[in-house]
Amino acid sequence: MNKINPTQTPAWNRLKVLAEKYKELQISSLFEERERFERFSIEIEGVLVDFSKNRINQEILDALIDLARETELHLAIESMFSGVAINETENRAVLHTALRNQSNSPVFVDGKDVMPDIKTVLAQMKAFADKINAGKWLGYTGKSIRSLVNIGIGGSDLGPVMVSEALKPYQNPNLEIFFVSNVDGTHLAETLKKVDPETTLFFIASKTFTTQETMTNAMSAREWFLATASDESAVAKHFVALSTNTKAVEAFGIDPANMFEFWDWVGGRYSIWSAIGLPIACAIGFSHYQEFLSGAHTMDLHFRNEMFGRNVPVILALIGIWNTNFLGATSEAILPYDQYLHRFAAYFQQGNMESNGKYVSRSGEKVAYPTGPIIWGEPGTNGQHAFYQLIHQGTHLIPCDFIAPAQSHNPMGDHHEKLLSNFFAQTEALMKGKGLDEVKAEMAKAGKTAEEIAKIAPHRVFEGNRPTNSILVKKITPHTLGMLVAMYEHKIFVQGAIWNIFSFDQWGVELGKVLANGILPELKGNEEVSSHDGSTNGLINAYKKMR
Ligand code: F6P
Repeated sequence: MNKINPTQTPAWNRLKVLAEKYKELQISSLFEERERFERFSIEIEGVLVDFSKNRINQEILDALIDLARETELHLAIESMFSGVAINETENRAVLHTALRNQSNSPVFVDGKDVMPDIKTVLAQMKAFADKINAGKWLGYTGKSIRSLVNIGIGGSDLGPVMVSEALKPYQNPNLEIFFVSNVDGTHLAETLKKVDPETTLFFIASKTFTTQETMTNAMSAREWFLATASDESAVAKHFVALSTNTKAVEAFGIDPANMFEFWDWVGGRYSIWSAIGLPIACAIGFSHYQEFLSGAHTMDLHFRNEMFGRNVPVILALIGIWNTNFLGATSEAILPYDQYLHRFAAYFQQGNMESNGKYVSRSGEKVAYPTGPIIWGEPGTNGQHAFYQLIHQGTHLIPCDFIAPAQSHNPMGDHHEKLLSNFFAQTEALMKGKGLDEVKAEMAKAGKTAEEIAKIAPHRVFEGNRPTNSILVKKITPHTLGMLVAMYEHKIFVQGAIWNIFSFDQWGVELGKVLANGILPELKGNEEVSSHDGSTNGLINAYKKMR
């Protein structure tokens, strides 16, 4: 990866000038140009991305595209797709795109084509998922598997959870799926109450197979299982591993024949396309999982080949940079108007914040500009009754992505029309706002006194001019979901590339883990602890008295 400081490019300087020049720019007024919707929206295979309700005009967009060019984004994209070790701080390639590569083209890592290994594991996953689905994978007492329990955390949990929720309508009705991630014993205990050892299959999902939470939960699940099954040999029928670490899997006691492998060039938060997707493939059937992969591949082709001015992930990323670096936004909300997507924002919280939450540039210096924003969100319409107040009238500028399907999986009365009327109304309201004169006139019409109007009217004013993207898809199918996930992944990639940071490591999560490992043995006895700062000592000692 190059080490271009984006702020040193001519485009960045031009964008600064444009931010000043257009600081009063009103999104509403931009629609005086009649073709704006057509020009500022793109449709790819049933996924319509409307970015016209942003504080950008063609001049700004052109400058943003220049920024992408001047920071050599095209080279970064090609490097990623072609297996260059762009994850330099871990000396690894970044090839989640190879996992969903549906073409026959080889993909090389250190001179070796990785596609044959990928295909072998996919075939292994298919055979296994088919058996589970057909009720032919039998537990130790000869019964079919009914409950799938994924034990993993971070990327080994959030992706499987999000996709399993999003694709619930495709789930085999004979199977139930559960997820255990937290090291808090409550998570496992509550899950185990719902399943039967004779018909439960555990997926121990961990790229490294060393993660404390996952290993602890896996050991306890094994103990729980053996408390009933009693025979160690039964473990092979009820535990499979999804990992890159064969040795640790064997050491745990899982037969390597029950291990589904992936590779170090798959980042944890990009691993849903790898063996980590196995519980999903089992729950929804392999053919649906395959469609999910092919949806992502469709987006990969678009991202790799389309010119920047019509390239959805590139444009979304550039708009994000405009909002973050030139308009001062510090967070972004992802607001799906689809209950099945209720974990989508949480998934991209990790995707985005673990990737681009960095203050050190690729040159090893502290950056002098904001990088990854805080990502958050909940499904509409629930969010409307919780935090939209702040989005509409708060002091923060919060760019939002609204996502909705045109077709519901559960047509019921006029629910979907009501849902979608809210989806359309919110972006319109955020853009248009409501001026003081309009509020006053409305109140007068409602018979309010002049005194009441003077007192209340200012509180009912909406400044508007709040930027949004709308993403309207035909239906949330496996293919569409694959496209959406890949779209956001590439958006994150583009931003990291331009911000001159390394998006594929996560050193920031290490320090806390190391300190916790040091504290754990100190919690054993009752003696006072004094090895930390005053607050930490005080808290540990108070805990020892309270427990
Ligand atoms: O939180 C740090 C992290 O390394 C994530 O990047 C990863 O998704 C998660 O832990 C789980 O790691 P593993 O799959 O190795 O258990």
